[in-house]
Order: sequence, then C-alpha cells, then structure tokens
Amino acid sequence: MRLFFAVWPPAESARALAQWARSVERDAGGKPTAQDKIHLTLAFLGGVEPQKAIAAAKRVKAAPHELAVEQARYWRQNSIVWAGPREAPQALLDLVERLKLELYRAEYILERRPFAAHVTLLRKARPPKSLPPLPAIRWPVGEFLLMQSAVSSSGSVYQPLARFELQ
Ligand code: 2AM
Repeated sequence: MRLFFAVWPPAESARALAQWARSVERDAGGKPTAQDKIHLTLAFLGGVEPQKAIAAAKRVKAAPHELAVEQARYWRQNSIVWAGPREAPQALLDLVERLKLELYRAEYILERRPFAAHVTLLRKARPPKSLPPLPAIRWPVGEFLLMQSAVSSSGSVYQPLARFELQ
C-alpha cells in the first residue's frame, strides 16, 4: 500500500488525454494510463500511515488555479510519455512547497528530487517518432487528494482517502 498526494482532472479532460495516449501507443507501444487513473502527483509518500499526513494536509493553504496541459514529452530515463504545463503555475508550486513543508514537519521522509509537474500517460513506451498535438482541455484545480495505491495482479488500484479544498 502506497500513499501519494495528487490532483485529478475533470472526467472529460481525462477522457481526452486517455484518447490521446491511445493514439501515441500505436507508435510508441507501452501501456496507456487508464482514464480514471490520470492524475498529477504532488508528493509521493510510499508505505506509511495516513493519519499524520491528513492532519498535515489540512494545514496547507493554497489558491485554486487552472492547470494548462500544453506540452507532451518522452522521458528516456523511465520510458514514459507525459503531458503537463510548459511552466507550472505559481499556485501549484506554492501548493507543493507548502504541502512538503507540512509533511516534513509531521516527520514524513520525502524524495529530494525536485517537483516536476507531469501527468504520466504512457508507461514502458519506446521513444515515439513524434507526438501528436494535445487536445485542448480544461483542468481547474480546486482540491487535492490523498490517494492510496494498492498493487494487485491486474495492476495498481487507486482509492481516495481524503480530499482537501483549496481556497
Ligand atoms: P509517475 O507517474 O511519474 O510514475 C503513484 O505511483 C504516483 O506517484 C505516480 O504518479 C508516480 O509518478 C508518483 N511517484 C513519485 N515517486 C514515486 C516512487 N518513488 N514510486 C512510485 N511512484 C512514484
């Protein structure tokens, strides 16, 4: 069981991104992310108890904002195709920074690698020859979630544990 904080797109945006991922799969192979699993991770906690993380996240204040998904890339180091903003909005960076600060204060150990705003859309992919244009989507960020990921024989199963509103 692993925990992570993330933001989730509206269903119609997830649908458009999932469709885009399937079109990339024809060229790059790999495994497209299922529509209901498309998300942007804010912080990854791993296998820890959620109680103190929930209390920490409740203390986080950040502004609601819009996330522009305007670039798609391939990362050779982990063979994923991802989409995300060209530059992360300041409100999203503030959210991540404040969340990580509260998690450190609650004595969670987080990865030191810097936050990279990305939405994984294809895993175990080959380098694509080219990436098709992304669909125009809306992604208002009004809340973030603490998610639980359980690994089963059919892959990982995500379940929301708590929601935190931005205001
Ligand atoms: P990824 O999409 O780039 O793989 C659930 O696993 C989420 O947490 C994924 O979005 C994953 O990012 C992210 N994550 C960050 N660090 C991770 C780690 N060390 N192990 C697994 N997932 C991690």
